[in-house]
Parts: sequence; structure tokens; C-alpha cells
Amino acid sequence: MRLTWSLTLLLWGCLIAGAIEPISTSIAVGIAAAVTGFLARYQNVLYYFHECCRPEWISYNRTGFEEALQTKLFGQHVASRVVLKAVTGFMNNTNPKKPLVLSLHGWTGTGKNFVSQLIAESIYRQGMSSGFVHLFTATAHFPHEMNLELYKTQLQQWIKGNVTNCPRSMFIFDEMDKMHPGLIDSIKPYLDFYETLDGVSYRQAIFIFLSNAGGENIVQVALDFWTRGRDREEIELKHLETALSLSVFNNKNSGFWHTSLIDKNLVDFFVPFLPLEYKHVVQCGLAEMAAKGRTPDREVVDLMAHDLNYFPKEERVFSMQGCKIISSRLDFYM
Ligand SMILES: *[C@@H]1O[C@H](CO)[C@@H](O)[C@H](O)[C@H]1NC(C)=O
Ligand SMILES: *[C@@H]1O[C@H](CO)[C@@H](O)[C@H](O)[C@H]1NC(C)=O
Ligand SMILES: *[C@@H]1O[C@H](CO)[C@@H](O)[C@H](O)[C@H]1NC(C)=O
Repeated sequence: MRLTWSLTLLLWGCLIAGAIEPISTSIAVGIAAAVTGFLARYQNVLYYFHECCRPEWISYNRTGFEEALQTKLFGQHVASRVVLKAVTGFMNNTNPKKPLVLSLHGWTGTGKNFVSQLIAESIYRQGMSSGFVHLFTATAHFPHEMNLELYKTQLQQWIKGNVTNCPRSMFIFDEMDKMHPGLIDSIKPYLDFYETLDGVSYRQAIFIFLSNAGGENIVQVALDFWTRGRDREEIELKHLETALSLSVFNNKNSGFWHTSLIDKNLVDFFVPFLPLEYKHVVQCGLAEMAAKGRTPDREVVDLMAHDLNYFPKEERVFSMQGCKIISSRLDFYM
């Protein structure tokens, strides 16, 4: 009985924030007043149990985000800076003119997925498990080209439906370079500067694209710095921007770039991820051991890191797989 009550109230808690249809004013006002009175007293308890599109569940923690970037993300000083600035600027803007669109580039294992997870965790109390965070993987969600028209309709409905439910929704598209250009075209309107589309405003939403496109060029820049004996930390966004945009426009293989996302400036920030060095792999390994509930052991991690592949072959500077396979590898060495 009590549980049913709570559930009903929970529902109210979420709905009341939106709009109460003025069915019959006196009744509605009466009920609303009663329920609101009750909720005012118990809302903290109620909201605690069920995720709603409200500040109790969605609020940006800049301090937490910065701290997570500094302590959990390794070897990505450029990406770290750009992402912190981009997300903070957007979340601090009460009246953004368009949704936030980030495009994360780099080799596998450099931390693109991880950074989108950290962004989600800094905004949604439930992080990636939040009902307001949506992850799409090209090869898993949109595998067959013959279904393109279906995918387009579905994706548009999902985006519209979810943003209608909660304007502060986040959409992550993994393997963007494997997504059909037509499908990317179909989401373009949502990324644009429109005030509303069919009565829905997308300006509070966040879109994150992940891809390997441009990865090779980023590696080249990092390698050039290394060859000239310059410190990795000296690499700045401006050194990578040219490399990235050139690759982006020239790479005929990645569908993404055929579309007018870039021509129309729909992407707010291109975020480059550098290839990781041995020491970063070790850092990942130590963090992973701690995450597995083990005491971080440098010897074990060194053994594992040593057996991975690096390039250039002779000098073994950059890790081929980055931190991607470390979790499973460690199990083998522990
Ligand atoms: C923000 O994150 C910091 C660091 O994780 C944490 O100590 C703090 O309690 C968080 N603030 C809020 C309002 O959640
Ligand atoms: C957030 O915006 C306010 C004004 O709207 C500004 O004073 C403040 O510096 C901004 N904070 C950040 C971290 O950008
Ligand atoms: C929200 O997106 C999910 C996919 O992540 C989809 O299954 C669901 O139907 C969408 N909700 C609405 C209301 O469109």
C-alpha cells in the first residue's frame, strides 16, 4: 500500500515539473496544491529513488569533472583542456544558440569512450546508466545499409522523443566513421542553430561523435615532436587542428566527412587524442588494478606493458592499442 502511494507520488514528482493540464482549474489546483504540499516535504526522499529530468539528477559538477580528467585520464593534456572548456562553457550558458556538438578523434584505446563517460558522469548522477544518455554504435545499431531508411526514421524519432522528454539529453555516436553519410545527414537538423524544430528545442542537448578519422595525422604530429626531441606537453591544439581538418576533408573513406557537418560548422569542437606512450600504459594498468580491487603492483604492470606492441618498431615510443585491452591483459599477468 505504502509502496503504491510512493510510486504514484514519484510519478507526480516527475510530471509536476513539466506541465499540469488545466483540466478543471479548481480540481487541478486543489490536487496540485495537496500533492505539491506533500512533495515539498518529501521530494528529496522521492527524487532519490527515481531518475527524473530535474536538477536533482542532472547538474554539472565542474570541479568533479576537472578532477576526474586530471586523475583518471592519462596522456591527453590537449583533449582534457578542450573538453573541460567546451562542456563548462555550454553548461554554464543558460541560453545556448545550438546544442553542444563534440567530435572526438584518435586511435583506439586513447580514451575517447572514456572521456564521453566522464562527461556523462559530470552531468548525470547516473552517469552512462542514466536514462537520458544514449549510446549508438554504428556497426551494432545500424549494421545493414539496406535498412537505411528505417534507421533514419528510427533515429530521428528517438532523438526527438528523448529530447521532448528531457531537453538535457546526451547522444553519443561511436564509430562515426562507419556510419552511413545518409544517416548522419538525417541528424543534421538537430545539431543546427534552430530555435525549435516542430516545437521541440534541441539547444540543451549534447551530441558526441567518436571516430578514428584523423588518427594517423595526430600520430604523425606526435611523432614529429618526439623526433625533434620536443616535449609531448608542448603539443597544443593548434598543432593538431590543421592535421585534423586536412585529414577530415581528404579522407575519402570515412563517410562522415562527405556530409556538410563541417561546412556548416555544426561541430563546435574537434578534440584530438594523442597516441599513448609506455608510461601512460603503465598509469592505465595501475589504475585498472586499483579498479579491480587489487593493490597496484608496478612489477606486474611493467610486465604487461612491456609485452604490448609499440611503434616505431625500433624505438617503441607509442602504444598500438593504448589502454584498450589492458583490463583483460592484466587478468593474465596477475
Ligand atoms: C563534485 O565533485 C567533487 C569531486 O568528485 C565532489 O567532492 C563534490 O561533492 C561534487 N559536488 C556535487 C554538488 O555533487
Ligand atoms: C559562468 O557564467 C557566469 C556568468 O553567466 C560567469 O560569471 C562565470 O565566470 C562563468 N563560469 C565559467 C566557469 O565559465
Ligand atoms: C530514446 O532513445 C532510445 C534509444 O537510446 C529509444 O529506445 C527510445 O525509444 C527513445 N525514447 C523515445 C521517447 O523516443
